[in-house]
Order: sequence, then structure tokens, then C-alpha cells
Amino acid sequence: MAEPAPIGVFDSGLGGLSVLREIAAKRPDLSTIYVADSGYCPYGAKSADQIIARAEAITEFLLGQGAQLIVVACNTATIAAVEYLRAHYSVPFVGMEPAVKPAVAATRSGVIGVLATGAALAGDKLHRLIDRHRGEVRVITQPCPGLVEQVEHGDLDGPETRRLLAEYALPLVAAGADVLVLGCTHYPFLRATLADIVRTGVTLLDTGEAVARRVDSLLPPASVVIGVPTAARRWFSSGDPMQMEAIGGRLWGASLRAQPLVA
Ligand code: DGL
Repeated sequence: MAEPAPIGVFDSGLGGLSVLREIAAKRPDLSTIYVADSGYCPYGAKSADQIIARAEAITEFLLGQGAQLIVVACNTATIAAVEYLRAHYSVPFVGMEPAVKPAVAATRSGVIGVLATGAALAGDKLHRLIDRHRGEVRVITQPCPGLVEQVEHGDLDGPETRRLLAEYALPLVAAGADVLVLGCTHYPFLRATLADIVRTGVTLLDTGEAVARRVDSLLPPASVVIGVPTAARRWFSSGDPMQMEAIGGRLWGASLRAQPLVA
């Protein structure tokens, strides 16, 4: 029997592994190709045109590898490029949407904070999402330069990471926010450290699981065979594949063999 086509998943770097792990938990049968665009990371400091060019190059690569669906596992790339990708390619794209709607539903204080990259907050797409869902809730947005790099270096709870998290999150908590939206796929890897910094009473929300449900809904159900073969996983980096193996393997929770991406 022919192997089902893989799905492609990409991010500016290793952050999308937080989304891939939810997809793998929901659909362990799906073979995956993950692209870390670490040679061009961070996207947060790039223009929309630069991000679109990268998203297009990676999409071409993934389609060449036979991807049947592509997950843009990056909020910044989704905001900048997903409409362009959908207009130019027929394969389905699943993008990220920061958890503003569930955050508005969850707040008791009436104040929420949205942590995201500079590029994600620069356009009007995220602000339109906020306007659509905020109702009476006060929404404070906070760009977080530097956090993506800390995760890329595998520094999830060192002094500099803690300093940045405190600088970005504590003013939101002081302003009354009881829910913080993790609006970048790198941030779930900082969840434990952030929870320690903001202490109890603050809920941290991301949308990795929602994306996994969306992927599942777009694909045929897993075939019921006895002894389902383990999904094949392939890994590519436009940066240093050895760094992806070292740090990506730690974030993923298992060793991985990365190949260079030339795209
Ligand atoms: N993981 C990306 C996101 O969700 C990070 C973007 C960046 O490289 O700045 O926005």
C-alpha cells in the first residue's frame, strides 16, 4: 500500500515544534516534514515582503517533498504570508491564530495581555483579530524582542530569559491581566519559566492544540490497521543542522537527524 503523503510544518526556527508536538499527539500516524528556517530567524524583525519570500521558498520545497497540507507553525509568518500562500497554491494551509478569543472568554479581571513578535504586532491583522473579539475586555499588546532567540539557543530558564520575560509580562500583570496569550509558537517552550515569574492566578494560552484539531479535520481519518507503523519524521534547517539536532532534539524530546535546507 502506498504511504500516505506527509504534511509539511514550518517556522522561522524551532518554535513550531510546539505545534508539531500537538499534531503528533493528535495524529501519531501522520508523517511529517519539519522545516526550521533558522538561517533567517527571527522573522519578527523582518518586513512582510521578506517573510512572504521565505514562506514561498519553503512552500516550494515542501511541495517538492510531496506535502499534502502545510502548517504555517508561526504566528508572524501566518500574519504576513498565509493569504498570499492560499492565493498562489492549491494545497491546504493551516495557520496560527493567537488565542485572543479564548482569552477574552477566560478573563475574570477584564484585562488580557498578548505577547507576540514585533512583526506580528506591526500589521493590522492581529489588531483586527483583537477588535473582533475584545468586547468589553481591555487588551494590552506587548512585543517581545529577544525571546525567540533565547529559545533558538535553548535557553529556556536562564537569567537573561527570565529578565526578558519579567520585563515583558510583569507590567501586564501589574495592569490587571489575568490571562496572557502566547502569540508566538516559540513561547510555549517558555511556559514553565513564565508561569514561575507571573505566579499563580494568571492563565497562559496558546493554540497548538487547536491547530492540531484543524489539521485532523482536514485529513482523512487514520487508517485502522493493527500495528500502525510509526510516522516517518524528516527534519530540515536553513541554519545549522547540528544546532537543530542539539536544541531541537531537546525541545522535541527525542533525538532527530536534521538535513540542510537549501531554499
Ligand atoms: N515562532 C514565530 C512566531 O510564532 C517566531 C517568529 C520570529 O522568528 O520572530 O511568531
